[in-house]
Amino acid sequence: MTHPTELPFSPAAERNQGPILAQLQALLPPQGQALEIASGTGQHALHFSAGLPGWHWQMSDPDPSALATLQARRALAEPALQARLGAPLALDVHQADWLPAGHRVDLVFCANMLHIAPWSSCAALMQGAARVLRDGGQLITYGPYLFADLPTAPSNLAFDADLKARNPAWGLRALDAVQAEAQRAGLRLQARHALPANNWLLVWGHGNAQV
Ligand SMILES: C[S@@+](CC[C@H](N)C(=O)[O-])C[C@H]1O[C@@H](n2cnc3c(N)ncnc32)[C@H](O)[C@@H]1O
Repeated sequence: MTHPTELPFSPAAERNQGPILAQLQALLPPQGQALEIASGTGQHALHFSAGLPGWHWQMSDPDPSALATLQARRALAEPALQARLGAPLALDVHQADWLPAGHRVDLVFCANMLHIAPWSSCAALMQGAARVLRDGGQLITYGPYLFADLPTAPSNLAFDADLKARNPAWGLRALDAVQAEAQRAGLRLQARHALPANNWLLVWGHGNAQV
């Protein structure tokens, strides 16, 4: 059996999972169904579903090596947690059929994808979330953003330059532009929460609330 230390590991996910979970526990109802987009190493999924015992947390990622990691990490979890995680889904936000026809969720959660994927992934995320969310459901995104009303931290400017050097299609996204894509999909920004290291947790939902 794989040992946890043999699996791909994100130090950033280890650092930010506690603050993100605290926000999720404050924001979410006691139970529901979540679809996580871009689950990566699966550290978040394991941590969040352990801290949200009333939730079913569906992991997903389009990358075959990430899917193998998600499967292996899930297999190491205790049986009750495994049951609440479900087998990871191969899911690229650009695909039309995120979930089986008619299947809806209460939460779509997506951390740290928008800046490490082409800009088209933003529209795809918003359109897909709008399709699969139940009435009253929420899309929660987490990561660094560029704000028109706030100065950008030097560390985020350096991160942006580094991303663009690695791939010109990557880079930190301006909240205004993300909001415009959300609006086209029928979603509105309902709340924004500052988290450590100049990251933000943004809450999106159907309807008119706009912060
Ligand atoms: C930096 S990792 C973030 C992983 C994890 N969410 C976290 O915060 O630690 C970015 C992830 O986005 C995924 N990704 C990239 N393009 C995607 C797409 N078009 N649809 C869904 N996921 C995508 C990658 O496979 C990768 O796992």
